[in-house]
Amino acid sequence: MANSYNIVSKIYGLLDILFFHKNSPRNILLSKIPNKEYKILEIAIGTAENSILLLKNNPQLKITGIDSSEDMLKIAKSNIDKHNIKNIELIKMDGTNMQFENETFDFIIISLLLHELTEVESNKILKGCMEILKNNGKILILEWEYPKKLIQKILFSVMSLLEYMANKEFNQFMKKDLNEYFKKNGLIISNIDYGNYTKVIELKKEN
Ligand SMILES: C[S@@+](CC[C@H](N)C(=O)[O-])C[C@H]1O[C@@H](n2cnc3c(N)ncnc32)[C@H](O)[C@@H]1O
Repeated sequence: MANSYNIVSKIYGLLDILFFHKNSPRNILLSKIPNKEYKILEIAIGTAENSILLLKNNPQLKITGIDSSEDMLKIAKSNIDKHNIKNIELIKMDGTNMQFENETFDFIIISLLLHELTEVESNKILKGCMEILKNNGKILILEWEYPKKLIQKILFSVMSLLEYMANKEFNQFMKKDLNEYFKKNGLIISNIDYGNYTKVIELKKEN
């Protein structure tokens, strides 16, 4: 997967233009995290669209962004510098093997990653999150959602086909019972908001 991101990283900005130009799920994420000295981890930060939006609006946040692709991290770094953003640290790290102290983060963001992974990989990531998330912390998942309008369905089917060609997990993920999927990892869904082609799922630790 890291190799395919050498190419994808170059055209990645198109995603936001085509799919998120209105009712952006990134704005939904923003509405979930107040401007306080919260420690945030963004797993699979990609080009840093979410983290830049968060820090431009909520400069008190302290964000750590990890990604397994050097190419994506280079683009993230250049975007962060362009916006003159502070309070963010980028680390090359695999989400399935995270190296942080237990109960470090108030919020963990996982945006457009889980649909690419095998269940074994996503279980490792969610298990890691359970350890490094504070007990009263939240995980925010941004994921694809089937659209209802015809014109959106057409665009989404093209994107789904490309996703499926890149990784065979996509169709299976879209059919998953998400309550069950997260519950297996000790997490419960406390809220879901819907954006264009997407949803933002709030998870908390099951007590
Ligand atoms: C579809 S992009 C999403 C990027 C960003 N989160 C967003 O919302 O635009 C998926 C990202 O996941 C990263 N990735 C894939 N597998 C990963 C893993 N096991 N650990 C960390 N990052 C990973 C890729 O390098 C890529 O940057």
